[in-house]
Amino acid sequence: MEEQIYKRYDAGQVTETMLQEAAVLFNENYGVWGEQAASKFPKPGSRVRLGKDRLRSQYLPDNATCVYVRVTVDGQLAGNAFACHWTVKDKTVCWVTQLVVDRNYRERGLAKGLLNQLKQNGVDIYGLMSSHPAACLAAAKAFGGKTIDSIRTLQLGPIGKYAEEIMKASPISYVKDAKLRGNVFDPDDTSGLVSSVDSGFFVDHIEPLEALAWVREEIDWPLGDLFDGHEFLLILEARRRSQSRSTSRPKFGS
Ligand SMILES: CC(C)(COP(=O)(O)OP(=O)(O)OC[C@H]1O[C@@H](n2cnc3c(N)ncnc32)[C@H](O)[C@@H]1OP(=O)(O)O)[C@@H](O)C(=O)NCCC(=O)NCCS
Repeated sequence: MEEQIYKRYDAGQVTETMLQEAAVLFNENYGVWGEQAASKFPKPGSRVRLGKDRLRSQYLPDNATCVYVRVTVDGQLAGNAFACHWTVKDKTVCWVTQLVVDRNYRERGLAKGLLNQLKQNGVDIYGLMSSHPAACLAAAKAFGGKTIDSIRTLQLGPIGKYAEEIMKASPISYVKDAKLRGNVFDPDDTSGLVSSVDSGFFVDHIEPLEALAWVREEIDWPLGDLFDGHEFLLILEARRRSQSRSTSRPKFGS
C-alpha cells in the first residue's frame, strides 16, 4: 500500500532543497500561458515557471507569516501549498497563495489533504484565489467545517462585504492588487461573474473550464463564470465546532 505523508513547515524551516523541489513541481504541473498572455509573458502554450528564489520572495516573504505544506507519496513530492497569515481588525486571515498537485496524483484528495494541514486554531478567515474549480472545492471542504457539502451552502454575502478590507491588508502584492469582479461586488454586473478577481494572470483556462463544465453538471456552482485573466475568489469563515454560542467570537465585521 502506498504511503502518503503530509508535513507542515514554518517559513524559516523551508530549505533551499525543498524550494528547488517545489519549483520543479510547479514548473511541470501548474499550467501553461494562455493566448492573451502573448504581449506580456512568454509564448502561449509555454509552461508557467517559477524559480526557487522567486518562490522564496513571493510565497515566503520576510514581511509576512507564511506556512508551507507538502505531501509525499512513497517518498515522491506529490503536491504542496503555500499560505500566508495576516490580521484585519483583530481577525486572523490564512490565505492560500499556491496549491499544486502533480498530474499523476490528482483527483484522489491530495489538494484537500494539503489544505487540511493549513487549518489551525486561531484562524478566523480562509481565502483563496484560483482559476481551478477543484482548488475551490478542496478549500470549501477543508475549511468549510461542519457542512460537508460546503460549496453548495457557501455564503456569498460576506465575500461581497468584506473581501476588499481583507485583501487590501494583505502583505502579498498580487492579493492586495487583485481587482474584485462579479455581482457579489456589483449588483449591476450581469456578465456571469459572481465572485471573481481580475488578477491579470493569463494562465490557459482550458483545463479549469473543463473542470468547471463537469462540476456544473453535478452542482449549482456558486462562484459564477471564469474569464481570461480572472480567478475565482473564495473566502470562508472558520467554523468552531467546540465553542458554545456564548463564548464564540463575533463574526467578521460585527
Ligand atoms: C487544483 C488542483 C490542486 C486539485 O488537486 P487534486 O489533488 O486533484 O484535488 P482533490 O483530489 O483534493 O479534489 C478536490 C475536489 O475537486 C474535484 N476535482 C478534482 N479535479 C477535478 C477536475 N479535473 N474536474 C472536476 N472536479 C475535480 C474532486 O472530485 C474533489 O471534489 P469532491 O471532494 O467533491 O469529490 C490540481 O488540479 C492542480 O494542481 N491544478 C493545477 C494548478 C492549479 O490550478 N492550482 C490552483 C491554483 S491556487
